[in-house]
Amino acid sequence: MPTLLAIESSCDDTSAAVVRDGRVLSNVTAGQAVHVEYGGVVPEFASRAHQRNIVPTVAVALQRAGVTAQDIQAVAFTRGPGLIGSLMVGVSFAKAFALARDLPLIEVDHMQAHVLAHFAEPPYPDFPFLCLTVSGGHTQLIVVHDALDQEIIGYTIDDAAGEAFDKSGKLLGLPYPAGPEIDRLAAAGTPVLQFAQPDPGELNFSFSGLKTSILYTLQKKAKEDPGYVRDHLPDICAAVQEAIVSTLIGKLVTAAEQTGLKQVALAGGVSANSALRARLEAEGQQRGWTTFVPRLEYCTDNAAMIGVTANFKYVKALFAGQDVAPAARF
Ligand code: KG4
Ligand code: ZN
Repeated sequence: MPTLLAIESSCDDTSAAVVRDGRVLSNVTAGQAVHVEYGGVVPEFASRAHQRNIVPTVAVALQRAGVTAQDIQAVAFTRGPGLIGSLMVGVSFAKAFALARDLPLIEVDHMQAHVLAHFAEPPYPDFPFLCLTVSGGHTQLIVVHDALDQEIIGYTIDDAAGEAFDKSGKLLGLPYPAGPEIDRLAAAGTPVLQFAQPDPGELNFSFSGLKTSILYTLQKKAKEDPGYVRDHLPDICAAVQEAIVSTLIGKLVTAAEQTGLKQVALAGGVSANSALRARLEAEGQQRGWTTFVPRLEYCTDNAAMIGVTANFKYVKALFAGQDVAPAARF
């Protein structure tokens, strides 16, 4: 029954969790408001905020789990991918904790962990399953053969799906992160506009052309009616959302057909999107899929998924040495 302390600090959330025998005892995340006024994550500010937040976040995670530092048997941390300065804070903290208490270290791949967030609480998918991971930094289609045997079969060649929401929202004057706001506004709109999107083929995604298409379309509309964006915001948001969601679902359907997998999962912060969830359910019903979407707490960046992944590694004694270093990319 290992009791693990897990740390996640790859982007702008400082998170700590305690996981015992694969069960989440606590999961505490401190967000960073400092980035809002800049319209995106400022790496230097993120590192500084992690440095301030990490000790109190871990303290609360231990307390909520009802354990003390003496109960911890291994320390897990996100090694990457992510912002290097942010990762360094988490890795250094984990090393120091492990060194002080003579504990093993477990390094975790952030992307594997997003997928294994499905094991934070039941219902668990069976292996193999298909997972679409969509967040501010990632867009991947993965065949999960086993917990630690994940095959990437599709990925974005440029922007991530969440980035596409955020950058589109910026064009519309919405605050960062714009994904939730687009979702909310789109509920009252109709996708009357159509935006062009290049298809890089196979199971890969490309979202960077979407911004250009939105920009040109809205510039054209504004020539005829200068108040167009202001007066049609819900319809424009509905069109942006439709463009992103239909691309994601289209590739997911192709991937399910190609692999023959019937268990289909979503992961990452964009899984919160109501249209994406609704389309997944609709496709699932039509195609006989069993679908899985983790609770939002486990979709966005969180340390529970790091701890759950680390538990799979602990049972195989896959430990890291004190010489382990963070990696911005793998
Ligand atoms: O997983 P996450 O919290 O952090 C990263 O690892 O990036 O994902 C954040 C992303 C942001 O781009 C945000 O705009 C998007 O998820 N997001 C949404 C919604 N909620 C969050 N996008 C669309 N609709 C939503 N409801
Ligand atoms: Zn993430």
